[in-house]
Amino acid sequence: MDHFLYRNGVLHAEDVALTKIAAAVGTPFYCYSTATLERHFRLFQEALAPLPHLVCFAMKSNSNQAVIRTLGQLGAGMDVVSGGEYLRARAAGVPGDRIVFSGVGKTRAEMRQALTGGIRQFNVESEPELLALSEIAHGLGLRAPVAVRVNPDVDARTHEKIATGKSENKFGIPIARAREVYALAARLPGIEVVGVDVHIGSQLTDLEPFRQAYEKVAELTLALRADGHVIRRLDLGGGLGIPYERSNSAPPLPTEYGQLIKETLGHLDCEIEIEPGRLISGNAGVLVSQVIYVKHGEGRDFLILDAAMNDLMRPSLYGAHHDIVPVHEPAPGAAQQPYDVVGPVCETGDTFAKQRNLPRLAAEDLVAFRSAGAYGAVMASEYNTRPLVPEVLVKGDQFAVIRPRPTFDEIINRDTMPHWL
Ligand code: LLP
Repeated sequence: MDHFLYRNGVLHAEDVALTKIAAAVGTPFYCYSTATLERHFRLFQEALAPLPHLVCFAMKSNSNQAVIRTLGQLGAGMDVVSGGEYLRARAAGVPGDRIVFSGVGKTRAEMRQALTGGIRQFNVESEPELLALSEIAHGLGLRAPVAVRVNPDVDARTHEKIATGKSENKFGIPIARAREVYALAARLPGIEVVGVDVHIGSQLTDLEPFRQAYEKVAELTLALRADGHVIRRLDLGGGLGIPYERSNSAPPLPTEYGQLIKETLGHLDCEIEIEPGRLISGNAGVLVSQVIYVKHGEGRDFLILDAAMNDLMRPSLYGAHHDIVPVHEPAPGAAQQPYDVVGPVCETGDTFAKQRNLPRLAAEDLVAFRSAGAYGAVMASEYNTRPLVPEVLVKGDQFAVIRPRPTFDEIINRDTMPHWL
């Protein structure tokens, strides 16, 4: 459930009409709902209770500091994957002891930054990383809290570009080698083993791959304890999918996911960490865009929008589906017609949807892409010198711009000339 509903014929974010925001900030813009973010975060909290747990929001899905602070104030931790995300989380007020650091390529500078700034845990993905982390931590007179990310070799049954738990993927240490790597970790002066980490992929719409992975993690935890390691935390990653197409069957609910965690890992007396991104932020955001032209092509009509692939990359990058709805509610039974929905960028890949049935639309109409709160604004670029789309946060009947649209001067003045030009 989210808080984007039609009221008096106009799509609202909570109590604010999207037309009102469009008039104030122009299009395109991203709009997030506080109530939806909070609701989704609480669903995970409730799903994991009474197990001791920390829900670490995967900041890569939406790293606007207003979003981070909203969740942080509810007690959320953060899953960060770069020094930049670490600094953003801290700037948004999240304490270091609620931040876990993931990613296959943490640099020494990033390790040093997190260790000195305060960090809950590093999720380490390789032996060279473990050695580097030990060296940096030891040099600082510290021991880095570590969970080793294991690759359980399960098929997440999701899009190949976002599956991470198969042995051929670059992520984690093969689970069969985990005991060896933990033995190495135990010998290193700058490492303190605290747990086990796993993440098998994103947009999973089936619990079975999670079950397979978590059963393997349970078995490994017992083996590691038998080897003498202190395993007190299990970081289970993110990945629970969302219903991008409202007409399709719904993915599992956080409560069902929580139940599965309790069944597979509840007996281990560990603190559970999870790293959901999409399920918290995805349906908490829409991208609002205006129709520039309706172009009658050869056997098809194109809806040319002022948003493009650089603003919302998911359709062109993954062939992802986003529901597109008119901001003005169509009359019941209004005639529909198929459109190719495209942006103004000079590439055929700048296509959001092909032959999508929509109510008849005209130039200047507003449309909203649903489920755009995750991996939307964060993946945007300025391709074609198109300014990054502004972000707006709604709370009840209030809204605020939480990242303004850059001016052309700001964009153009970022380039600097070499002395010979
Ligand atoms: N933890 C780790 C270690 C991850 O790599 C990811 C996502 C997450 C948590 C959060 O997963 P979520 O709960 O959001 O599924 N750009 C792609 C998604 C990439 C996901 C990468 N890792 C998309 O737009 O679908």
